[in-house]
Amino acid sequence: MNTLKSIGVVGAGQMGSGIAQVVLLADLAAVLHDRDERILGAAVQGIDRSLQRQVDKGTLSQADKGAAVGRIRTATDLKALAACDFVIEAVNESLPLKRQIFEALHVLCRPDVVLASNTSSLSITRIAAATGRPDKVIGMHFMNPVPVMKLVEIVPGQATSKETLEETRALALRLGKTAVVAQDFPGFISNRVLMPLINEAIFALHEGVGTRDDIDTVMTLGMRHPMGPLALADFIGLDTCLSIMEILHGGFGDPKYRPCPLLRRMVDAGHLGKKSGRGFYDYRPEGSR
Ligand code: CAA
Repeated sequence: MNTLKSIGVVGAGQMGSGIAQVVLLADLAAVLHDRDERILGAAVQGIDRSLQRQVDKGTLSQADKGAAVGRIRTATDLKALAACDFVIEAVNESLPLKRQIFEALHVLCRPDVVLASNTSSLSITRIAAATGRPDKVIGMHFMNPVPVMKLVEIVPGQATSKETLEETRALALRLGKTAVVAQDFPGFISNRVLMPLINEAIFALHEGVGTRDDIDTVMTLGMRHPMGPLALADFIGLDTCLSIMEILHGGFGDPKYRPCPLLRRMVDAGHLGKKSGRGFYDYRPEGSR
């Protein structure tokens, strides 16, 4: 096991930038890669804002914030990750795209470097098979928002070594997270349990069992969930929810995972939740509705 100094993060969206933020706060350097320069710029601004909020709340000193921000490097060329000691990929949930990135990372990175994927439901075994180092490939599934949520689900693939699992567990601990190990089956533990719940809430809305607000209130006040399932679906992204349900449905072939037709229709309409301004709730500024 090498001594980690620099962590590569591939993909600077919501998850990638959250992962980079917790890396920086763990006294590690982060090399954040995205193909899109604007996404990289927005990610760095978002990290800066989030750390500034911590400074304002008195939970982080101005000097520590400055040092953390000074440890981030951004790059549009994947080659910038060549010297990293551990890489975490957090791009869109596309198996061909992830396989392509892992194949490239395998060529670029030192042979001892672990290549982890933040996938929420794709097969780690299939991603690993695209590389010449399947023993060094593993799932490292963070929850959104990454800086707040304490869990990391670690997913060894068919060929992942014990050493890789332990190195990943140690990194998760260093990032201040609690790690659980889930086996490489569709949805792992988190989405195997969460997504059918969200899908069922959408069925309840679709069938008129309750209104949006009543369904969410049952789960917030009745079950003490911090957010109702429909608000949570908007937060995660309805396209992501649909894609995970499809993976569960296809992977197990069990009709209990059938995506709700209302979920499909909303995705078809481009109502993807918070990120598109509209989902079960409306996030558009008052005047633009
Ligand atoms: N980044 C950093 N900090 C954030 C943040 C973000 N994006 N969002 C909220 N916070 C912080 C706030 O600054 C605040 O910190 P303090 O307590 O120190 O002041 C704290 O979190 C609480 O925030 P708020 O008071 O604004 O709001 P809240 O109490 O309603 O909490 C929430 C917001 C943390 C998102 C909470 O509603 C929650 O836990 N929701 C459920 C989230 C969840 O289930 N996530 C998992 C999704 S599934 C997934 O990620 C996996 C998958 O594969 C789909």
